[in-house]
Amino acid sequence: MVHSQTNGDDAARSHRDPASILQKDLIVVSNRQPYQHRYEEDGRIEVDRPAGGLTAAIDPVMQQTDGTWVAWGDGEADAEVTADDGTIRLPPEDETYTLKRIWLSEEEVDGYYYGYSNQTLWPLCHGGVWKPEYESRHWARYQQINERFASAVAEHAASNSLVWFQDYHFALAPRQLRNGDDSAFIMHFWHIPWPSWETFQACPQQRELLDGLLGNDLLGFHIERYCENFLTCVDRCLDDAFIDREDGQVRYDGRTTTVRAFPLGINADDIQAASESIDGSFWQSFQRDHSITPSTRVVAGVDRLDYTKGIVDRLNALERLWTTNPDWREEFTYVQKANESRSLIPDYQDLQQDVEDAVTRINDRFGTNDWQPVVYIEDWMTDEELAGLYRHSDALLVSAVRDGMNLVAKEYVAAQTGDPGVLVLSNQTGAHEELGDQAVTINPHETDTFAAAITTALTMKESERRDRMETLRHRVRANDLSAWMTTVFETARDLQ
Ligand code: F6P
Repeated sequence: MVHSQTNGDDAARSHRDPASILQKDLIVVSNRQPYQHRYEEDGRIEVDRPAGGLTAAIDPVMQQTDGTWVAWGDGEADAEVTADDGTIRLPPEDETYTLKRIWLSEEEVDGYYYGYSNQTLWPLCHGGVWKPEYESRHWARYQQINERFASAVAEHAASNSLVWFQDYHFALAPRQLRNGDDSAFIMHFWHIPWPSWETFQACPQQRELLDGLLGNDLLGFHIERYCENFLTCVDRCLDDAFIDREDGQVRYDGRTTTVRAFPLGINADDIQAASESIDGSFWQSFQRDHSITPSTRVVAGVDRLDYTKGIVDRLNALERLWTTNPDWREEFTYVQKANESRSLIPDYQDLQQDVEDAVTRINDRFGTNDWQPVVYIEDWMTDEELAGLYRHSDALLVSAVRDGMNLVAKEYVAAQTGDPGVLVLSNQTGAHEELGDQAVTINPHETDTFAAAITTALTMKESERRDRMETLRHRVRANDLSAWMTTVFETARDLQ
């Protein structure tokens, strides 16, 4: 039995200051950096700030604790503003912590980021639905870059440090760091699913990955199932590991790793405030810009363009609905906000093409002079604009075929400050464990029932919509990002 660390409401909302729990110097390690420097057209250097999500959440904690953040310096002007040792004090207007930038050559990025991280671990951890590649040159780069990050951390770590690795880019670094220094408390949050043993056993580097992660004192996943999967993989792969399922602990190589579920939350207050700040004129101009008549309802989808998100399955369900049920034509427009991602990888290029083809096909097939069935938006939207889209959408479709959590579902819930919409949520997401009972559940592979679920959402009585959304908003607010971080830090503190 692995312990879930989801907070009760009161506990969650009484802990608003995760930084106050820290008794140690915090060192955060992530692939993406919190601030990126770039050149303006006139040659001036501008800094891009964290655009929401985890990076934005950790930034204030770092500012309060004067910690160190180690990340890949991928900005075109990063090197020009960074000292010779790769460090820069941030934020620019109030320098309170250190960012240590790691420089990577194109070849290194190709092997470590596009290669092993995103063509091996990403598909492997998302269940092997897409075939992972096992290129030995990618693995070699991944090992080498993990070592480089671990050495950079070691330069800054002391016995009083709490080192916090983020995500699947650093499966080996905890062990590499541990081998050099036994004194820091090392923890890791794995932001994507952990697969079953049946899937994981195909990986030629299974031993090294598990050994690397067992260099951590504390290892977090979104939900209990991923913890159970991880423990089973350790059990089946490492003969010399002792597993205590009751306590969620692994005893291995003379040390104990505690494995816990910490379901990641969002910054619900900020999203609610952004949604409330949107006035009617935003929505009127949004409708005008996208040729949506005022009487047409809107259904939305917001995704990074990734094959795990089930965007084509969703478009197929919409096409099925408008084919079999023509009365629904002109009733609503589907707005797909898509964020380009990992475009150098052929599978991602194929996906972009498939999505664009499906959008064109549906619009050609059903569009009229007065109605465009699908509006496809690739342009950047501000947090306020996105919150406005959520707020004014009658339903949000989340149809991931596999997703560690899916924070878009939670963002939609937090933004329902007006007439509430309905969340249509895939049963293949981690978020479904928390939100599924009050959402309209779909299996993204079942096109007919998915199409029917869209009509269920759009015909739901107002009282039911309100009841469901109120429960969801309460849950999302109680288990927000601040509560998540508080629970992670408290667990770390209790283990020391
Ligand atoms: O979901 C895993 C994750 O690493 C997130 O933490 C992140 O927001 C997303 O993928 C984006 O990935 P990338 O850094 O490859 O653009």
